[in-house]
Amino acid sequence: MNPFLTDLHTRAAARKASVIFAESGDIRVLQAALFLHTGGLCNVHLVGSGSSIQQKFVQQGFDFPPEITIHDISENGSQYLDSIADHLYERRKNKGMLRDQAVELCKEPLWYAAGLVALGIVDAGVAGAVHTTGDVLRAGLQMIGTAENSSVVSGSFIMSWDEGLVFAYADCAVFPYPNAEQLASIAADTARMYTLLTGDEARVAFLSFATGRSANHEKIELVHKALAQFKSDHPDLIADGPLQFDAALIPDIATRKAPGSTVAGRANVFIFPNLDAGNIAYKITERLGGAKATGPIIQGLAKPFNDLSRGASIDDIVDTACAAALLT
Ligand code: ACO
Repeated sequence: MNPFLTDLHTRAAARKASVIFAESGDIRVLQAALFLHTGGLCNVHLVGSGSSIQQKFVQQGFDFPPEITIHDISENGSQYLDSIADHLYERRKNKGMLRDQAVELCKEPLWYAAGLVALGIVDAGVAGAVHTTGDVLRAGLQMIGTAENSSVVSGSFIMSWDEGLVFAYADCAVFPYPNAEQLASIAADTARMYTLLTGDEARVAFLSFATGRSANHEKIELVHKALAQFKSDHPDLIADGPLQFDAALIPDIATRKAPGSTVAGRANVFIFPNLDAGNIAYKITERLGGAKATGPIIQGLAKPFNDLSRGASIDDIVDTACAAALLT
């Protein structure tokens, strides 16, 4: 395993947050839950029918560990249904949601899990092995909402290599065309996430198709504005831009294109100007660059409620749960 992932598990074990899984009907989720529990990486909570979860464990040849908490919403075991529905109704009534509609939504495991996170019954949530990204994000946005200091929810990836390199890319998953203020917010959330997950200082590169003032275009101007906003909001963080990717990454090129920059040539957090660029870049880095892509790590929510790819492996689910646990 690469050093970042080993370290991620160690950090999660030290934090030992409680993490709820909304999709207990999926065998990958149950196997990941068992691994997380057995390895002491987090306190596992599952939403679903108690008897069917226990039966699935037995079918797989495992005893059901009694320390795993099941939130049984199949009959009268849904202890927090009223509180979660009240919470959702209060948040959404001015958008036209009725109390009955809130109750019906909260009977869905995905929304119930988001509610447990919102109310602080558990520290973090993970879903998306079965549901689409849109479904998971909608439950997170409506039930939990954005963090106080974030204007937008976004999705980053940690790109890591066996040799030890670890980068963050954002936004790769959620928000198509951010304005300058939103881009600054995405960058701040990504820097925070990078430091929480790696323990290292973030050096943030605002990427563009030009470096500094080498060209003029409204899209480059947006990046200048985003950097200015970021520096005003976070004078303690290291950032520079606009930078081309090569100037951000390669020291020799940095000395020619951005002499004196504190970030060029040594960036570890790469902020793409839009979702097209971020999504394409992480896939190229993964497929041609041989990186392990961990994510999307959903950031900017008031509490962590993380998405999975529907193609996620057991290892992916474990890593995502560890990442979510560390964002608490
Ligand atoms: N950040 C903050 N607030 C947001 C965001 C965001 N990114 N997106 C929506 N909101 C707000 C909405 O404006 C709305 O505000 P309101 O309180 O005024 O109603 C509120 O959150 C609730 O939004 P919804 O109406 O429930 O959701 P919406 O229809 O806006 O859809 C969603 C949001 C689900 C994130 C949508 O933009 C989406 O599906 N994005 C694409 C995700 C995706 O499929 N990514 C690609 C796959 S991932 C990958 O490849 C790695």
